[in-house]
Amino acid sequence: MVVWPPPRRPFPCPAGMATPRSLPLSPVSEENASTRFSNRESDAADMRAIQEFLDEAMITEVLNVVKSGKEATVYRCRAHPSLGVPYAAAKCYHSAFHRSFQRGAIYEEGRVIGNGQVERAIKGRTEFGREAQLALWVDHEFEVLSTLHYAGADVPEPFACTDTAILMELLGDDSAAADQLQFAPVSPADADDLLDRILWNIELFMRENVVHADLSAFNILYVEEKLTIIDFPQAVDPRTNPSAPKLLERDLRNVLSYFARHNVGLDEDPATMARKLWGLWKYGEL
Ligand SMILES: Nc1ncnc2c1ncn2[C@@H]1O[C@H](COP(=O)(O)OP(=O)(O)OP(=O)(O)O)[C@@H](O)[C@H]1O
Ligand SMILES: [Mg+2]
Repeated sequence: MVVWPPPRRPFPCPAGMATPRSLPLSPVSEENASTRFSNRESDAADMRAIQEFLDEAMITEVLNVVKSGKEATVYRCRAHPSLGVPYAAAKCYHSAFHRSFQRGAIYEEGRVIGNGQVERAIKGRTEFGREAQLALWVDHEFEVLSTLHYAGADVPEPFACTDTAILMELLGDDSAAADQLQFAPVSPADADDLLDRILWNIELFMRENVVHADLSAFNILYVEEKLTIIDFPQAVDPRTNPSAPKLLERDLRNVLSYFARHNVGLDEDPATMARKLWGLWKYGEL
């Protein structure tokens, strides 16, 4: 298990922006703990992954499923006092996860595996290869979260990862996990600041050599007027991935099309923005 020490290095925020925060969470009531498991056949695998976090005394209890999909289930857990937060989110990947990325090989371009045996097993699609590939995706998300959190970006604080699961800060309030921005009520007065804050994050990601590559209002959580960007397994490195400029433009396009609903950012062109940002990054001016 990899455990990430959580020191933070501040990154200067644009004037008027809130600084990165940690949410005060109070204990969950028993009625919120009603759905503890997702009733999927992958439950057993998820519980095995979560057991490692229990054994390492990082969490004490699984409270409920936050969201269960084909590729991963996210559980709300009670954190062990040593973690310094009341709750944690355990994101457990399912073995089906890697299948959806067979089509998405562009995300893997330029990634270094660094072990010939593993590389051959992945290419040969053996069972070991599939497990190894899943572990690489999980490890990649954990590494990216660690880098970006350390840099002061609005991402969940990562605590630990195993071959199939990541334990991280849970975003939400005292009763539920945070809404995805797509479904959250956003006031017109806040929309402008939110867009600026997301663009600030995208720039900071680039400074840290990260393009999210699946950024949209579905992968941004919003609670108490603060946003947090999640879901990084497909993130790419602009230094090594030839598709990075295209993926950066797609991220910007998705974000701007969400904000167009709020009549914000209508004058911005994602292609021009992506070109400008790429130029700044390329010449080390971020
Ligand atoms: N740290 C967190 N705190 C609170 N909720 C979270 C956290 N991480 C994930 N979630 C919730 O779980 C959902 C799925 O997480 P994530 O987007 O990382 O996985 P995914 O495999 O992409 O799932 P999906 O395909 O549904 O987006 C998120 O949309 C969000 O509602
Ligand atoms: Mg997602």
